[in-house]
Amino acid sequence: MASTQTDSMRADALAQIEGASTLESLDAVRVAFLGKQGTISALLKTLGKMSPEERQEAGPAFNGLRAEVTEAIAARKAVLEAEALNAKLAGETIDLSLPAPEAPIGSVHPVSQVMDELAEIFADMGFAVATGPEIEDDWHNFTALNMPESHPARAMHDTFYFPDADDEGRSMLLRTHTSPVQIRTMLKDGAPLRIIAPGRVYRSDSDATHTPMFHQIEGLVIGKGIHLGHLKWTLETFLKAFFERDDIVLRLRPSYFPFTEPSVEVDVGYSVEKGRRVVGGSGDDEGHAWMEVLGSGMVNARVIEFGGLDPNEWQGFAFGTGVDRLAMLKYGMDDLRAFFDGDLRWMKHYGFAALDVPTLSGGVGVSA
Ligand code: PHE
Repeated sequence: MASTQTDSMRADALAQIEGASTLESLDAVRVAFLGKQGTISALLKTLGKMSPEERQEAGPAFNGLRAEVTEAIAARKAVLEAEALNAKLAGETIDLSLPAPEAPIGSVHPVSQVMDELAEIFADMGFAVATGPEIEDDWHNFTALNMPESHPARAMHDTFYFPDADDEGRSMLLRTHTSPVQIRTMLKDGAPLRIIAPGRVYRSDSDATHTPMFHQIEGLVIGKGIHLGHLKWTLETFLKAFFERDDIVLRLRPSYFPFTEPSVEVDVGYSVEKGRRVVGGSGDDEGHAWMEVLGSGMVNARVIEFGGLDPNEWQGFAFGTGVDRLAMLKYGMDDLRAFFDGDLRWMKHYGFAALDVPTLSGGVGVSA
């Protein structure tokens, strides 16, 4: 009798265990058979009321049933746990086909872009990049450039001075042009030389075409037998490369800078197309207008001397131009102040994609 009872209970338990499809329903099966009120537990309790003979037969059968069911539950539990884990892992798979969230990408400021372009154009002509400090002393900024203390040209520069002089008693100032780099480079590297010096300069001035800080690029060539023809060719080659047109017309006008002799101001011809100034194009006879783009000249003998070189041995030419103005002319912005407002809408419109531009220089340091 005991064996039919255990046989049917075993079959029932094993079927329910097999049929449990979740850990929760498996646990319910465990409670139903092996819990305190469970049917197998109840069966085991009946052993106490049995005669020793009956117990001898029923005991091993009942205990065997309990062991078998316990084992079957453990085995089923392992299977269900593995299934649950696999399901979880499958659900957590990373979908590599999903597009990544877009990261904000900055853009290259037109000034940086133009400085890069200039560095590349001049690198092709054998010019290295030189730098100098933005906080200068008046000797490098003025005196060594042939502007002694009382020189009227000093007044033209609207200089920002610092209240205190340096240890050598020189007045300190924010450089008003990149020309002091001429002196620093001659003193440091001697001759021959072929450099450009891009960077920030400062003058107390502010309107639509002037900001108190702006950017210049200086050029200096020192060598033997250097003459005005070299200057003209270099500027012509540079402007054609920069504006990416062959029909650039230059006009050299006599001018005056204390640090060059003779001095020439360089104008480029432009025409107005759709209300915009476009460099190049029509010739003189078509009545196009001229726009000043550069100051330049043969380096004054006194400046060569201040640079520690013998002017009887070395000659050279120098030029200086506004980087911001070149950027405005090439890319069509009309208010210089917007360059330094930090308005992201302006940058989105006029900025350059950082990775699109094949620069050799990888960004010219303008911190000097
Ligand atoms: N330093 C001059 C300026 O700021 C430009 C210049 C540079 C002129 C070199 C001649 C030679 O206006």
